[in-house]
Amino acid sequence: MQICRDIPSIRAVLKKERLADRSIGFVPTMGNLHAGHLSLVTKARELAEKVVVSIFVNPTQFGANEDLDAYPRTEANDLALLEAAGVDVVFLPTVEAMYPNGQDNLTEVIVPKLTETLCGASRPGHFNGVSSVVTKLFNIVQPDLACFGAKDYQQLRVVQKMVQDLAMNVTVVAVPTARADDGLALSSRNQYLDPDERDTAPKLQIFMQRAIEQLEAGLPLSMAREQLIESLEHTGFMIDYVEFVRPDDLSVLTETELPCTLAVAAKLGSTRLIDNLPAQDASASPALSK
Ligand code: PAJ
Repeated sequence: MQICRDIPSIRAVLKKERLADRSIGFVPTMGNLHAGHLSLVTKARELAEKVVVSIFVNPTQFGANEDLDAYPRTEANDLALLEAAGVDVVFLPTVEAMYPNGQDNLTEVIVPKLTETLCGASRPGHFNGVSSVVTKLFNIVQPDLACFGAKDYQQLRVVQKMVQDLAMNVTVVAVPTARADDGLALSSRNQYLDPDERDTAPKLQIFMQRAIEQLEAGLPLSMAREQLIESLEHTGFMIDYVEFVRPDDLSVLTETELPCTLAVAAKLGSTRLIDNLPAQDASASPALSK
């Protein structure tokens, strides 16, 4: 496994792969890797001949009130996991290597509309940082395909739209959310939950699942949403948002429309958890329409 810490060195390594006509799969990350990240690596290995993973805690996607310095950096452990997972190249740039001219007045890629709701509303500027750094990473790695987790559903949609709108020559592969045995979506943030909070955390997904079932069974959206909010608050979650949205443009629904996606962000103590689940139109399922 080769480790590159600046742009010229990874370009030199990948030039050889491109000249040999080998396909390149890319997994961008911020490190502190867990089985969710590794499921993206597995997918990339299935689909491409060479796999590149980046580890870069991107300062431009953190808000002023978000603690960039506290983001866990676990390089040695991350590298051991990636080596064991059969990754070919790791791109581990310093902030200076990525932003040699500083972070002021940077050229940005902005995806409008999609970034204004859900996490975009509570984290202003966050998705501009994501779309801009992903563009830069794509320009450096020039992958044939790049894997993103459905766990961060809004991020996935933002990247998909950006790639379409700007005709970027990369296939975006969506990888399903990896979960712990009790259903909690894997996240670097789960380590901040104390034992009681960790016991409570899976209820987020359990209550969301129940709301989806209610919606699919015909309960009006506003009632399914209200009940979900009530259950979460009763259990100790502090809600940031609970919304049923259109899966493509993430516009918020006020009446049932299927398929749709239920997206939730809520805090347990000081830890912010996000999750999303799809709701299907059961009457359209082939098994039932016979
Ligand atoms: P990070 O939070 O490290 O996540 C890297 C990738 O792993 C993202 O595509 C994310 O959706 C995916 N991922 C995280 N948890 C997952 C889970 N439980 N199941 C499946 N996939 C999961 O997202 C970022 O970094 C950054 O914003 C980045 C795209 C690297 C840009 O800086």
